[in-house]
Formats: sequence, C-alpha cells, structure tokens
Amino acid sequence: MAGGAVVNTGGGKDYPGKLTMFVLFACIVAATGGLIFGYDIGISGGVTSMNPFLMKFFPAVYRQEQEAERNQSNQYCKFDSQLLTMFTSSLYLAALVASFFAATVTRVAGRKWSMFAGGVTFLAGAALNGAAKDVLMLILGRVLLGIGVGFANQSVPVYLSEMAPARLRGMLNIGFQQMITIGILCANLINYGTAKIKGGWGWRVSLALAAVPAAIIAVGALFLPDTPNSLIDRGYTDDAKRMLRRVRGTDDVDEEYRDLVAASEESKLVSHPWRNILQRRYRPQLTFAIAIPFFQQLTGINVIMFYAPVLFKTLGFADDASLMSAVITGLVNVFATSVSIVTVDRLGRRKLFLQGGVQMLVCQIVVGGLIGAKFGFSGVAVIPKEYAAFVVLFICAYVAGFAWSWGPLGWLVPSEIFPLEIRSAGQSITVSVNMFCTFVIAQAFLPMLCRFKFMLFFFFGAWVVLMTLFVAFFLPETKNVPIEEMVLVWKAHWYWGRFIRDEDVHVGADVEMPASGKNKIQPGNGKLGI
Ligand code: BGC
Repeated sequence: MAGGAVVNTGGGKDYPGKLTMFVLFACIVAATGGLIFGYDIGISGGVTSMNPFLMKFFPAVYRQEQEAERNQSNQYCKFDSQLLTMFTSSLYLAALVASFFAATVTRVAGRKWSMFAGGVTFLAGAALNGAAKDVLMLILGRVLLGIGVGFANQSVPVYLSEMAPARLRGMLNIGFQQMITIGILCANLINYGTAKIKGGWGWRVSLALAAVPAAIIAVGALFLPDTPNSLIDRGYTDDAKRMLRRVRGTDDVDEEYRDLVAASEESKLVSHPWRNILQRRYRPQLTFAIAIPFFQQLTGINVIMFYAPVLFKTLGFADDASLMSAVITGLVNVFATSVSIVTVDRLGRRKLFLQGGVQMLVCQIVVGGLIGAKFGFSGVAVIPKEYAAFVVLFICAYVAGFAWSWGPLGWLVPSEIFPLEIRSAGQSITVSVNMFCTFVIAQAFLPMLCRFKFMLFFFFGAWVVLMTLFVAFFLPETKNVPIEEMVLVWKAHWYWGRFIRDEDVHVGADVEMPASGKNKIQPGNGKLGI
C-alpha cells in the first residue's frame, strides 16, 4: 500500500543493549500516569447516571429523566443537559491549557517533574470533588483534575518512548494506554459498588477515590530516573551516559550516546520550538500531531467510555445492568489493549490501524442498524433483553477494535515521530488536540444523540472510513526505527519526502541518507533482547 511500501522499516542502527529490569520497572511506574486519566474517563459516566448525584447537583436533569421513564417518551433525549455535560467535559478544557505549560516543565525541568506535578494536582482535584457541596466545587475540582491529566499525558508518552530500546518502544509505550484502560475498568467497578450504597453518598466515594491513582503516580515519579535524552538536553552529559549504560544494560553505548548528543546539539540550534514546528520540514510531524488525536476522538470511543451506563439505560437496561455493562466494556478494553502490546513491534503500527479501523466500522454499522430498527426516529420502544444483549456484543467488538488500534497508537505514534527539538511542543499539540476533541464530543454527544438518533453511529462510522484511508496512504511504518532517526522514514515516504530537503536529514554522527525512494535502512533483527 502506498503509505509504507517504499520504507524498509527498522532502525538505521540496531543499538546494542537489552531490556533491563531497570528500564522495565521505570516504564511501568511512569505508565501509571495513565491511571489518573483512565480513572477519570471511567468515573464520570457512572456518577452522572446515579440518581442521588443528579438529585443533588442537577435536579432538572433528574426530573426530565423520571418524566421520560414515566411517559415512555423519546429515549434519545432524556439526558440532554449542557450543564451535566459541562461536568464531564470541563476537565478536558483544563487539560488542554495545562499541556502547554507542561511542555516547558517537561523540557526545562525534565519529564519526571511534569509527572509529579500531574499527580499532585490531580490529588487536590480528587479531594475537592469528594467533598463537593455545589456544582461550582464540583467543576473547580474537575479543572484541577484536568491540569493533572494535561501534565501526565504530556510527559508520560514521551518518557516511555525515550527510555525504551527502539525494538520494544511500541510495547513499552503502550503500557501508558494499558494503564488508562485499567483506570477506566477500576472506575467502572467502583461505580458499580458505590451505586449500591444506601445513603446516597456513593458518588462521593467514587470521586474521592481518584486520590489513589494520583498518589501512585506522584510518589512513583519521585523515584523515576530521567531519560538520557532529557539529561543530555539539560547539560548533564555525564549523568546521561551513566543512565544510558544503566537503561541499556551494557557499557557499549557510545554510538547511541553520540547520536543522542548530536540530536541534542541540533535541537539547541532551535530557540523557538513553537515557531519552529511550523517550518516546512516538520510538516509531516505537525500533520500527524494534529490528525492522530483528532481522528482518535472521532472514532466515537468516548461516547462509549463516558456514556456507556447512560447509553445502556437508553437501551432499556435497569440501573444495575447498565453499570454492569460498562464493566463488561471496560474488561474488553483492558484485554484487547494487551493484544496490541504483544503485536505492535512485530506487526507494526499500520496493520493494527487498518485492521482496527475495519472492525470498528463494521460494528458501528451493525449497532446503528440494530438501534435504528427498534427505536426508529421516534425513540420510543421497549427492547427485548436478548436484542439489547446483541447490541452490547457489537459494542464490545467495537471497543476491542479501538483498543488494539487507535487507543494505544493514538498516543504511541505522536510520541515517537518528533525530533528532539520539537518533541515537547509537538506532544503538547497532540495532547491539546486530543483534549479539545474529547471536550467537543463529550459536550456534543447528548444533544447529538437527541437529534441524530441512531444515525449518530453512522456519523462516527464515516469518520472511521476517512481515518483508515488516511493511515493507509499517509502514515509510514515506524516500528523498530530509533527515535532520533525517524527523519529517514519521512524522507523515504512517497508523499512526505518532498517536504524534507536532503540537507535537513542529519541523523546522529555517521548515518548516510540513502537516495530517496530507495531507502535501504536495514530492519532491526526483531529479536527481543530480554
Ligand atoms: C483515549 C481516550 C479514551 C481511551 C479509551 C485513550 O487512548 O485518548 O479518549 O477514552 O483511550 O481506552
């Protein structure tokens, strides 16, 4: 296929070294930064479907919901409240703004301090939310949570991609997404339990327990070593060399070290990463920094993640069964993500994207069709149990398709394609586009469901067609390529090659750029050096 055929993927160099316990452990600790994001995604949907929570903070929504139940009226519209969705989505606006500040902290102070800042702010947000007395406290708490997410999502993926040996970068980086899914699942399970609390304060427990993942990443970050790339960049060259030996588990790191220094020196020539990223030679990276998170959200995944309980209630499930169904989709999400952990460095990114895209599309067509057949445009129907179970089955298959494609790759690919000089800035763009689109979808879903009805699933399906074609034609394969050599992949690409002049291609100290289109970069040996 046009997108990747000419690129003989794999590293220009296969640096010596193996996966050390040290690096594995550091990556697991850093990946726990994903827990806070995941916990939050999973908790809001369940909490906003709890009656005591609605009665306390959003009484109008509660009345509307009861009314709809009594009158058997339009199911599509019963939850439509902008204030309620503001509760969910305020976090994403805060994360968006925070990620720009995080870029500076990540670059100047190192990746670990950004993670620490993320954990601590999230902790404060959890406290405020657990103790909330009114909507204002609730939303302020969510803003703090959002700042925490902005910092963590900015620093963790970059940290993981820099620490990992090229051959295992996909696997280690997806640890982040795996933690996101575990966070979502834990939140779903907690909601399932707290919804049963008789006194009507279960939602407080759900919101306050966000303190647990926050404490894990905040404390964990204190013990994390910084990446060699970041140490070199901040002038700690001796520490960087020592760290590189330690993370690669060998003394034979001179070549990689020289390449990292060269990358850092080149990055020093760039005094304005924000302005710089607009240069023509960074056009491919900038395009993907925006397109990947944009498309990731337009898969429609967060309709399921945020609103699964609401959606299942709409299908006519009882309260308990709705929360249970959210637990089921959460489980599927966790297991399907681990499929990508074991396949991403072997199959590569493109195959997962393409397969996942097709699977999601088929499921969206089926789910939209099934809901449409029963509810039609009026939104009035009673759905038999088996029928609803069938819908849930296809929703699960859709979640699985996402979980081994756009979920993990939506974070992995942006974190591995930027050269050092624009890496922090590029990652911030990715985080902020992701958060912005998440905000828009969270805010727009309920009114859209009310207006588009079952056609909403076809709307997201159309986007999935577009993004799958985009990947097919424009995304080169990046598996196994050392992160500081990625420019070779762009240069060799049938379309992006034209944006990069030969003199823009500097890779480490001694790699020659082969003639474009005939890139003979040798593949890494693909063996796991564990
Ligand atoms: C996305 C989230 C989504 C989650 C689901 C993440 O990669 O950024 O928006 O809710 O995956 O697992």
